[in-house]
Parts: sequence; C-alpha cells; structure tokens
Amino acid sequence: MTVASESTPKLKIRPRPPLGLGAALIGKEEEELVLQVIRNQEPFRYYGHDPAHPPGMAATLEKEFAGKFGFKYALAVTSGTAALECALAALGVGPGDEVIVPAWSWISCFTAIVRVGALPVLAEIDETFCLAPGEITRLTTPNTKAVLLVHFQGVAADLDKITAEAHSNGIKVLEDCAEAVGATYHGKSVGLYGDIAIFSFQYHKFMTSGEGGMVACNDPTLYERAVRFHDVGQVRPYHAAIKKPSVPAFSGDQFRMTELCAAMALAQLRKVETIKSHCRRLSARIMDQIKGLSGMTPRRIPDPTGDTGFEIYLALPSKDLAVQFSQKLEAMNVNAKKTTFTYCHYAREYCQTGHAHTPAASPFAKFKQWPAPGYRQQDFPKTEAIIHNFLALPLGMKYTDEDADYIAAAVRQVHGELIG
Ligand SMILES: Cc1ncc(COP(=O)(O)O)c(C=O)c1O
Repeated sequence: MTVASESTPKLKIRPRPPLGLGAALIGKEEEELVLQVIRNQEPFRYYGHDPAHPPGMAATLEKEFAGKFGFKYALAVTSGTAALECALAALGVGPGDEVIVPAWSWISCFTAIVRVGALPVLAEIDETFCLAPGEITRLTTPNTKAVLLVHFQGVAADLDKITAEAHSNGIKVLEDCAEAVGATYHGKSVGLYGDIAIFSFQYHKFMTSGEGGMVACNDPTLYERAVRFHDVGQVRPYHAAIKKPSVPAFSGDQFRMTELCAAMALAQLRKVETIKSHCRRLSARIMDQIKGLSGMTPRRIPDPTGDTGFEIYLALPSKDLAVQFSQKLEAMNVNAKKTTFTYCHYAREYCQTGHAHTPAASPFAKFKQWPAPGYRQQDFPKTEAIIHNFLALPLGMKYTDEDADYIAAAVRQVHGELIG
C-alpha cells in the first residue's frame, strides 16, 4: 500500500459508522434470557427459584465466565468499581496500606483505594498506556500492600515484567481487567497473572449489561473474602458449596448482582469471541494500510496476539498535531474522539481536594502540604509526555470492511495534509 501524497485525490465522505461493542449487539439472545427471569418472577439470585427451573443466571454467568477464561472462582457483582472494592477487601487492604496505581486510569481505580481506607500511590505509565515497569520498585515502601494493574483499553500490560517486579517486592497484584475482557497474554486470559482480578460490564465495555462486574481469582480464601465483602459479610449456601467457609465473618458491603443483570451479561459473554475477532480483523486491516506513516507511532502492545483490537492508538509528535488530526478525521465522519474516559488523577477534583467522605477517613490527612509530591502534574513527566499526543481510533461492531478501508484512507489523507 503506498502512502498518500498531497496530490492524492480527496476522499468521498462516507456516513459515520456507529460506535458500540457488546452494546451494539444487544438483541434476541439478551431478550430471551432477561424474559426468562421475568417470566419466572425470579430477579433475586439466592432464592425464589422454583427447583424445576434451570440454575439461576448469576450462577450460570459465574460458571461460564470462570470456565471460559480459566479461573477457579468468579463472583458476579454490581459494577467494576464494586469489584475493585471487593478485590481490595479480599486482599485485606485497609488504613495504613499503600496501593500503587497508574496515575492515568479510570476514576474508581483511585477512589476504590480511598474507599477502603488505603493510600493510592500514583505511578507513571509508558507507551503501552499501562503501568511502566520499574515503577513498583521506585514506589514500594514498607506500607505497600498491592499494585492495581490496569490493562488499558483491550490490551494486556507488560505482565511478565510487572508481576516479577511485584513479587520481588513482596506485594500483591490486583489486575484491573475492566477494559480488557477477552484480552490475553501469552495465550492466557488477563487476570490469571496476578492474585485477583476484576472486570466491568458497564455500557462502554467489551461486553455489557449496562452495569455489572466480576471478581475472579484462583485462591479459595480470596474468593471467600470477596464473597463476604459483596454480601454484607455473609457466605450463603450457594457459595459455601463452592468453598467451605473458613474465614471469620467481617462487615461487608452489598454488591450482589441481580438476575436481570446477570441474564444480559450471560448473553453478552457468549458474544465475546465474535466481538474480538471482528475488532481484531478490522484493526489489522487498518494498521496494514497505515503502518510506516512518518511521525505516527502505534501504541506498544506487549503481546499483540492477545490484543482485543477495539481501539487503535497512534502517538503523534505534539498535542497540537494530535488535536488537529482528530478534528480533521471527525470532519470526515471518522470517529476519532477519545472514547476512553481515562484521566490523570492528579488533575481531577477528587484528588486535588484530598478528601474522603469524612476527614478522618482521608489517607491524605498525614501529608503536611497538599497536593504532596507524587500528586502533582510536575511529578509525572513520562505520563504527561504520552497522554496529550495520541490519536485514538475506536472501532465498533457495526463497522464494515469498507469503513475500515475508508478510515485508513482518511488517516493517510490527513497525514499528507498535516505531516507529509
Ligand atoms: C480501568 C477501569 N477500572 C474500573 C472501572 C469501573 O467499572 P464500572 O464502571 O463498572 O464501575 C472502569 C470502568 O470504567 C475502568 O475503565
């Protein structure tokens, strides 16, 4: 494929393809399972089931999810954020503990740590858009209990390096796979490399039930602790049959998934491979046609065979160029806005105030000045050098091969206009 020059004829504008991953596939499979719950009048997962009915939706979802991705245990909860709190609680993270988290990640990666009373310690990302190797070693203190490792937008982080670093520093790994359902690393699902993992089924995610989440792990004690935390400290007979309770009861929260939500998530789980193969195919088709364009560096993907392919990231030489590139593509009906609602925590109000819901619960109260070093923009030169300069090209289930070819041609045309 030849690279466009300024003399390349202008493209005929195509209609804008609609975005949406699992959300764009909601259809009769979801309808059938949700209706089953309604017809049976059984929206609560633990009782109300007629013994003649098949197993409940949440139970089936957990079994299929665990089986599909290779976990011993999976626990359905109300959201990815709830899953984060359950996982942190399962790991025993609380006041006095520190958790390393990428400075650039979703809001609740930070707030969940604060909610369990621990201190979020912000780390730099690298060109993978995930935690930079070396950061765990730089930031670990005697109080560090865990690292919250985010697999950003469908791609596994540098897992070999990061898990080795975490283990050599004696800290636990919580894999945040909220944005990476279906992603693999060296042939295994993300989430299987750390101690415990979480997933999200929120509307924008790979598979969706509107809201919803999953905690998954292979460790029976972590499973029991997560079960207890998600159900006000209890272990009901359903879970006791999976893992005999041995952990003394403690106070938990209430993050139980409803059967309606589980029915939708179950139908969507069965579509994950379809979504993945569609996105991977289109992503490869676009990348083949735009590779080698000067001044545009694709995101580094540690294991390209496991990429879910739903969003292409290209680094440009400056923020100005990235903004102009995106605007020109948008004007040509190419979706090129950042769909990831990822932020630098230090630039956000919830971090800048240093508040928890009440002063005594704030892990930041110990700092003499606020924002303290480690919570200011100037402390993150690597992250700042990456996050303003990229172009994001999200893909969707309604995109066709023709859309992919048009996107590639549009990128080549705008490249010719802006970079040459
Ligand atoms: C990396 C990451 N972690 C956690 C979450 C929280 O998931 P939820 O929105 O389901 O609470 C999200 C969702 O946006 C996310 O992107």
